[in-house]
Amino acid sequence: MRRNRKTAWSRALIQETTLQPQDFIWPLFIIEGENERQPITSMPGVERLTIDLAIDAIKQAQNLGIPAVALFPNTNPDLRSELAEEAFNDDNLICRAVNAIKQAVPEIGLICDVALDPYTSHGHDGILIDDKIDNDRTIEVLIKQALVQAKAGADVIAPSDMMDGRIGLIRQALEKEGYQDVQIMAYSAKYASSFYGPFRDAIGSNIKLKGDKKTYQMDPANTDEALHEVGLDISEGADMVMVKPGMPYLDIVQRVKQTFQCPTFVYQVSGEYAMLMAAIENGWLDKDKVILESLISFKRAGANGILTYFACEAAQLLQDYQQV
Ligand code: PBG
Repeated sequence: MRRNRKTAWSRALIQETTLQPQDFIWPLFIIEGENERQPITSMPGVERLTIDLAIDAIKQAQNLGIPAVALFPNTNPDLRSELAEEAFNDDNLICRAVNAIKQAVPEIGLICDVALDPYTSHGHDGILIDDKIDNDRTIEVLIKQALVQAKAGADVIAPSDMMDGRIGLIRQALEKEGYQDVQIMAYSAKYASSFYGPFRDAIGSNIKLKGDKKTYQMDPANTDEALHEVGLDISEGADMVMVKPGMPYLDIVQRVKQTFQCPTFVYQVSGEYAMLMAAIENGWLDKDKVILESLISFKRAGANGILTYFACEAAQLLQDYQQV
């Protein structure tokens, strides 16, 4: 075995998996205002950006070869409510961001999260009725949210709420309203994970979150259930599916890809980013190497693409080194 490994050229020839800037989707946090950036303490190196600065950042991402970005709003607290009305205001922060980014950087793919957690006063992804997340009432709001995002110019709608049946109903509504070309990337196998903590700081839903999300997100103990979820979303019309979180769920990525052979994405979530950055900042892990190693593991497991806060750094590294 070592004959093939003894030189760099030979290792390059036998490499089974590759990592390229086009594998990355960059998640971005958007705030109101102008020319302002806010650091996120639990995600060192990641900042919330106003729309104008996000446009500059997205142009740089595009120059690095990154094909798409995913947008998340940090909604002003006074716009959050029990029924999440701001989610379907067609002039909300996300719609204005999509509009402005589409005009400034028309070739980049724009992915919008569909879920109510940036808009609810209690921080849940759905509508609470008698302390329960009401599946069908939530879907009614998600449909309206998806439609304002499509109208604003979103290329991809990404439901991350884990309500049952929402992909089919959102697909139907998009067709009916003339948005038949809008793609759906379903967060299909999304686990009730503790690795989302820093993201909830970033969008400001953490302080308020009552309880947990176990009645709608999946149990980390389950794997057959993930296939069931993915199968339902595909049959309801999802164009792409996603597994989330990433590194602790590589087995799920592999099973989904092997079972369905459909475009499969994985989210290296905020807690994974925070964990790696903490070790990197302490000098315990080598930053460049560990970023690329963590990302190639997703490709090896079968992912077509990766949502990662390291997107720009990784793309830059790949440009610098050519290949891992
Ligand atoms: C919202 C949403 C979450 C993430 C993406 N969309 C958080 C959650 O479900 O609580 C997590 C992303 C990350 O941790 O980086 N529905």
